Amino acid sequence: MSPDEILQQEFNRWAAEGRGEQMEQHHLAITEATLRLMDTKPGERVLDLGCGAGWATRILARLVSEGPRGFGQVVGLDISDEMIRRARASSRDFDNLMYVWGSAEKIPWEENYFDKVLSVESFYYYPDPDRALNELFRVMAPRGRLFILINLYKDNPYSLHWVDKLKVPVQVRSEAEYIELLKTHAFEDVEARRIPDPTPTPHDYSGQSFKSAEDLREFKRIGALLVMATKPNFRSPAPPYTIY
Ligand SMILES: C[S@@+](CC[C@H](N)C(=O)[O-])C[C@H]1O[C@@H](n2cnc3c(N)ncnc32)[C@H](O)[C@@H]1O
Repeated sequence: MSPDEILQQEFNRWAAEGRGEQMEQHHLAITEATLRLMDTKPGERVLDLGCGAGWATRILARLVSEGPRGFGQVVGLDISDEMIRRARASSRDFDNLMYVWGSAEKIPWEENYFDKVLSVESFYYYPDPDRALNELFRVMAPRGRLFILINLYKDNPYSLHWVDKLKVPVQVRSEAEYIELLKTHAFEDVEARRIPDPTPTPHDYSGQSFKSAEDLREFKRIGALLVMATKPNFRSPAPPYTIY
């Protein structure tokens, strides 16, 4: 099955199951666009950082599965033991996927390993983003590619009401600030894209998240921020601290 067919199958299944309020439904359209840009190949090793309940991790596992470059593997990492438990419970049919409990600031994995990293709606939670980027740089393979996707950022004013609603502290940055941050950490080919959410907004919107259907429509039109970067062709040495 081609990557396109796998993605289509996954998104049709979600639509058929009508998982209205679940987190995956909210991140689905923007993640679909990101997964296509990631161009993941069978045999690759991928990290899903802040994987939550693991829905994107499972799609990635199908995309990298078996191929000419070997048997691809996906690792989902999350700081919430509850999320890791849920992710494991939903992934029993997979043999090329593993969930690890840990922090982005101290990734319990070896150096120079991952060909691709995806992080959906998680990066702004990290209290020490510099440390998280040092760790990502360390665990990524030379020429590995990083994809950070976020809905909450300064250039989408319709997202900012979440800063007060979320029960934990977050760090909100602009597109320019993200680009600067990644460049400071020696990543190359740093670029950003807006990923609009093309899903229709009902006229009779009655959700709690936005003031009105019009606000939600504008939020989706401006879209999420996808920041992409490449680790230089460099092998990181082992860190001076214990990682496990
Ligand atoms: C909004 S959820 C997104 C989950 C998933 N990526 C998705 O799209 O459904 C954010 C996730 O980031 C995780 N997270 C927050 N801080 C973290 C950290 N320092 N290290 C690893 N994961 C973290 C949370 O536990 C949560 O599961």
